[in-house]
Amino acid sequence: MSPASAGRSRRGAAERARDEKMMKTALSAARKGDGRTYPNPSVGAVVFRGDEILGRGTTKPPGGPHAEIVAMENSRKRHGDRSLRGASIATTLEPCSFSGRTGPCADALVEAGITSVAVGCLDPHPRVAGRGIKRLRAAGIQVETGVLEEECRYTHRGFLSVIERGRPWITLKLATTLDGRIATAAGESRWITGSESRAKVHRLRNAYDAVMVGSGTALADDPSLTVRRGDKVLRTPIRILVDSRLRVPATHQLFSDPASAKTWVVCGTGARGIAKMRETAGSVIEIGKGRDRKLDLPEMAAALADSGLTTLLVEGGGGLAAALLRADLVDEVHWMLAPKLIGSEGFSGLGPLAVDALGEAVVIEPLEFAVPGIGKNGFTQAGPDIHVHGLIRRNAKTEGSGRRKISRPAGRKGTKA
Ligand SMILES: NC(=O)c1ccc[n+]([C@@H]2O[C@H](COP(=O)([O-])OP(=O)(O)OC[C@H]3O[C@@H](n4cnc5c(N)ncnc54)[C@H](OP(=O)(O)O)[C@@H]3O)[C@@H](O)[C@H]2O)c1
Repeated sequence: MSPASAGRSRRGAAERARDEKMMKTALSAARKGDGRTYPNPSVGAVVFRGDEILGRGTTKPPGGPHAEIVAMENSRKRHGDRSLRGASIATTLEPCSFSGRTGPCADALVEAGITSVAVGCLDPHPRVAGRGIKRLRAAGIQVETGVLEEECRYTHRGFLSVIERGRPWITLKLATTLDGRIATAAGESRWITGSESRAKVHRLRNAYDAVMVGSGTALADDPSLTVRRGDKVLRTPIRILVDSRLRVPATHQLFSDPASAKTWVVCGTGARGIAKMRETAGSVIEIGKGRDRKLDLPEMAAALADSGLTTLLVEGGGGLAAALLRADLVDEVHWMLAPKLIGSEGFSGLGPLAVDALGEAVVIEPLEFAVPGIGKNGFTQAGPDIHVHGLIRRNAKTEGSGRRKISRPAGRKGTKA
């Protein structure tokens, strides 16, 4: 039994089904804040009475109210001050129990007269860790825990990863031909996949705190890494360039477009040109070398978590992608496969993985629940392309090579807080 489901009360099937239905609404509210609340989780909450939804809420960016407070405020606005007395709330993460930049949500729920709370997953933050639920129960509120727990853990995978493993959740996105090539021998890579796949990638970018590329990709493609619909820039996530020797010139888009303050550069300690780069980039993070004489990627991941990032979408190229896989730092994969062939003279989608036996192959497993916009079962169609999605399966041999202890990724069946 998981910690979150340990305290489950004996509720009828109808009440459980209603909690799950409301939690689904809370999950879609949570997703609206993805990429916008780091270092905090984007929580979703729904105030309801019977089958009627009274108010929805999404966590506001840091310093703003948490989802439970927003949902209660919306309920008050739409249905009056008394609407909360005797109402229920579903929230994707355990309500907080301490005063930080905002007051404790658990106290606010008690004071508002909420009588029943459905919680998705426990908050492992050392200042909460079950205290939110304890506070609610002590006030006589009925608390149901572990409601759609796996979906809620997946939604909060970045926040959970930072607390449990000291590094962001890292997702790898690559687009290749069927024979696994990301560019022709002449270096042409635009566009391997169709417009549907590319639109999907922009939606993905929009849901992450940060997007990362290696210096090889920046030099070859001069990407902007913004979220766009057509020509319109909708958002610029934090853009991280991994460039140990600071080879990418300041004329590239990452440094010269209007959002250059959102470009962070990861380079080797004391890299040549670092003083100038500090004037050009939003942030410069110096990292030591690992055993392979390349940047120490576990140290980089820990430094990014220390800077507040919880989710990271790595968009290549093959050299950086393989290095992250070798360092056991990739948790999730989105692979766009175009029905095209380039042949072995094209650039491979992945650098060396040091796999000698098939048993050592990196295995990608589908999620066991549907994610809106992505689907279930591990693959969906995107125009003429196939979109393969899943979580990296970890085993005893590959686990734990990061600087800090690495536990199994959240969001998979059997994974507990
Ligand atoms: N189709 C797609 O989805 C897609 C996506 C991205 C790129 N691409 C294509 O891929 C090609 C570029 O791929 P790439 O493999 O050359 O470049 P890359 O993976 O973007 O960058 C590799 C570089 O990253 C730097 N790096 C820093 N720390 C590292 C570490 N620990 N391990 C490995 N590398 C580290 C190294 O340069 P320093 O040592 O100088 O730092 C290395 O040469 C381009 O042709 C591009 O068009 C295609």
